[in-house]
Amino acid sequence: SYELSLRPQNLKQYIGQEKVKSNLEVFIEAAKIREETLDHVLLYGPPGLGKTTLAAIIANEMGVNLRTTSGPAIERPGDLAAILSALQPGDVLFIDEIHRLPRTVEEVLYPAMEDFCLDIVIGKGPSARSVRIDLPPFTLVGATTRAGSLSAPLRDRFGVLSRLEYYTVEQLKQIVIRTAEILDTDIADEAADEIARRSRGTPRIANRLLRRVRDFAQVKGDGFVTVVLADHALELMQVDRLGLDHIDHKLLKGIIERFRGGPVGLDTISATIGEESHTIEDVYEPYLLQIGFLQRTPRGRIATHLVYEHFNMEIPS
Ligand code: ADE
Repeated sequence: SYELSLRPQNLKQYIGQEKVKSNLEVFIEAAKIREETLDHVLLYGPPGLGKTTLAAIIANEMGVNLRTTSGPAIERPGDLAAILSALQPGDVLFIDEIHRLPRTVEEVLYPAMEDFCLDIVIGKGPSARSVRIDLPPFTLVGATTRAGSLSAPLRDRFGVLSRLEYYTVEQLKQIVIRTAEILDTDIADEAADEIARRSRGTPRIANRLLRRVRDFAQVKGDGFVTVVLADHALELMQVDRLGLDHIDHKLLKGIIERFRGGPVGLDTISATIGEESHTIEDVYEPYLLQIGFLQRTPRGRIATHLVYEHFNMEIPS
């Protein structure tokens, strides 16, 4: 599809995540030499950094099919059994948000990952019996924003654990230029740089901002994305110089204005700004921690002096 074609198809096209990439390259090559399936892979890290893309690339590089599902979509053991028995030898099964798999499903997954078999209980009460079904060997690629909320037995069954990191501005700029080319859009070098700077280290955001800036260029200009146009469009979208949006602002100003900069607990922040604490924790906080705007302490979150400087506010004495 159009959306999928923006994504890199192989490791060579994939920009950034150098450590993850070079390790995967070796593991994929070794599995191919031995004519084995690749070990199960757990990809973790903040949203939008390319976990789904990497799963597709792994399948592509291994020359197998990709089957995609998610933790919350697999409600009962039978759902998982149906998916697993439909796989062909060597296939990649991608489970997004794997930390949200129901407990009962997780238990079916253990023998499937370890021995490529399913233990299914048929019937109820005294007549219940357990049957063992062999599965085709497969590679599970799991993705999660929170490796910490994966159960230890599940985590232990992955042979490869890869943590995705925020991208540098330079890497994001390359991604913006690559995407612009695919979208057949002319973009000034400084415009690509500006979009990259405001993308919170995240390719998904960079590509989204590029599309919106391109809309402005097409409607308000002649289609060429200049830095002036990009600046203007980003301002209208309420994306500030550092890429912080109005929810980041609400969060940071909330801590400063209502709690004198903190420390304040996550649930209290959540209640004051009306955002789910999970969303704050998985989507907003990681980047704010990364750029040193927030600190996590045992007593709660603290807004650092960088936040006061960013908003031109006085630090309380
Ligand atoms: N598009 C989105 N993420 C990308 C990446 N990491 N490399 C190349 N293109 C991308």
